[in-house]
Amino acid sequence: MPLQPKPTIKAAQGKLGILLPGMGAVATTFIAGVHAVRQGIGKPIGSLCEMGTIRLGARTDNNVPTIREYVSLAELDDIVFGGWDLFNENCYEAAIEAGVLEKELLESLKEPLSAIKPMKAVFDQSYVKRLRGEHVKTGTSKMDLAEQLMEDMKSFQKDNGCDRLVVVWCASTEVYREPTSVHATLANFEEGLRNSDDEIAPSQIYAYACCKLGVPFNNGAPNLSVDIPAIQELARETQTPISGKDFKTGQTLMKTILAPGFKSRLLGINGWFSTNILGNRDGEVLDDPGSFKSKEVSKLSVLDSVLQPEKYPDLYKDLYHKVRINYYPPRGDNKEGWDNIDIFGWLGYEMQIKVDFLCRDSILAAPLVLDLALFSDFAKRAGMHGIQEWLSFYYKSPMTPEGLYPEHDLFIQLAKLKNTLRYTVGDDLITHLGAEYYE
Ligand SMILES: NC(=O)c1ccc[n+]([C@@H]2O[C@H](COP(=O)([O-])OP(=O)(O)OC[C@H]3O[C@@H](n4cnc5c(N)ncnc54)[C@H](O)[C@@H]3O)[C@@H](O)[C@H]2O)c1
Repeated sequence: MPLQPKPTIKAAQGKLGILLPGMGAVATTFIAGVHAVRQGIGKPIGSLCEMGTIRLGARTDNNVPTIREYVSLAELDDIVFGGWDLFNENCYEAAIEAGVLEKELLESLKEPLSAIKPMKAVFDQSYVKRLRGEHVKTGTSKMDLAEQLMEDMKSFQKDNGCDRLVVVWCASTEVYREPTSVHATLANFEEGLRNSDDEIAPSQIYAYACCKLGVPFNNGAPNLSVDIPAIQELARETQTPISGKDFKTGQTLMKTILAPGFKSRLLGINGWFSTNILGNRDGEVLDDPGSFKSKEVSKLSVLDSVLQPEKYPDLYKDLYHKVRINYYPPRGDNKEGWDNIDIFGWLGYEMQIKVDFLCRDSILAAPLVLDLALFSDFAKRAGMHGIQEWLSFYYKSPMTPEGLYPEHDLFIQLAKLKNTLRYTVGDDLITHLGAEYYE
């Protein structure tokens, strides 16, 4: 592929405001973690932006800078945090409530965390049945609420002297809804906002407000926010990068590590049963069938797309895939995910694999929030806009432009991410071709 001339990528100068709708377990673990790293009392484990490297040129060149050396990313010291929530607790109180990080660690970060207070949320209980809003905006219409969010962002940027803003949705999973005609075009959507159409979800109001201002929006939950034609039209108009959806952590991360391996070796799969117990607020919200449906759709799509049963009917046509999430308060944020995988090999002989992943949900999600914030800010400075497919690496249910299927294989996703960085900078892509055999 001919390479484009090197585009001018604006350097990451000045402060970056990271705004999070939803300041619960994931958001506070992320914010506290960045403060801990800044103070030298923790390491940013799991973040490509902070710890990843990228190979350039032939292996003989031995040129492997860190990603941070390679492209200009915001420094952790230049980040300012903010967000919205329907609970009026500051970030320190919310982190204590979430119970993910140790009290001793949070105590040492009390001052900066207590200073972060959520702005009033745009919330509608019909979209998250298990929560009741207290710290919530009121307005004359959904358009009025969107305008209030835009004012929040402008004031935040001004008050904190931020050069740029990005948004990562870390709020609760909304109930499953199919897109309707109000989501089909920007004109319909804006009309719907003015009429407070019931089909417009709170997350879509945030997405609209961000795209209107050209602020990159990344969706960590499975509900529809930026993956509707109306918002994509707006993102094109305002040259805004958007990405989604649903952070790929825990069980789905394991699935997209294991399934590509089985498929590479052409091992068949008869069944894959996945069940989870989890006891945090996210688990409580997902106990509602509507919110669970959003999650289920997002989790189920993974195997079909990795395994391509239509191309390998002998191996995957009869695959039975089942996913369960059980709310179990004693476990808090420390989820346990079991997988039973019924596979078969040579001549159809059957085998079984059992995975028991005792994971920590928010610990796995926090570095994803950081990378999505820093990479989407990079994308904006590099002139990229619309759906950022190269960020599929971070998502359970990656968004794609119309007519394309999503890529779920974690290793292809990583290759795509790194090749996109090389391409953006104007360097050769890595093909892994063994050209020396032909010399
Ligand atoms: N932790 C993971 O591994 C993981 C993985 C994939 C997706 N997610 C998703 O990330 C999101 C956050 O997870 P969590 O564990 O932090 O949940 P959480 O329940 O601890 O936090 C969510 C917060 O969002 C707030 N909220 C709900 N609706 C809001 C709105 N409209 N505006 C502003 N705030 C709102 C809630 O009050 C709550 O404080 C969830 O949607 C979850 O499904 C998490």
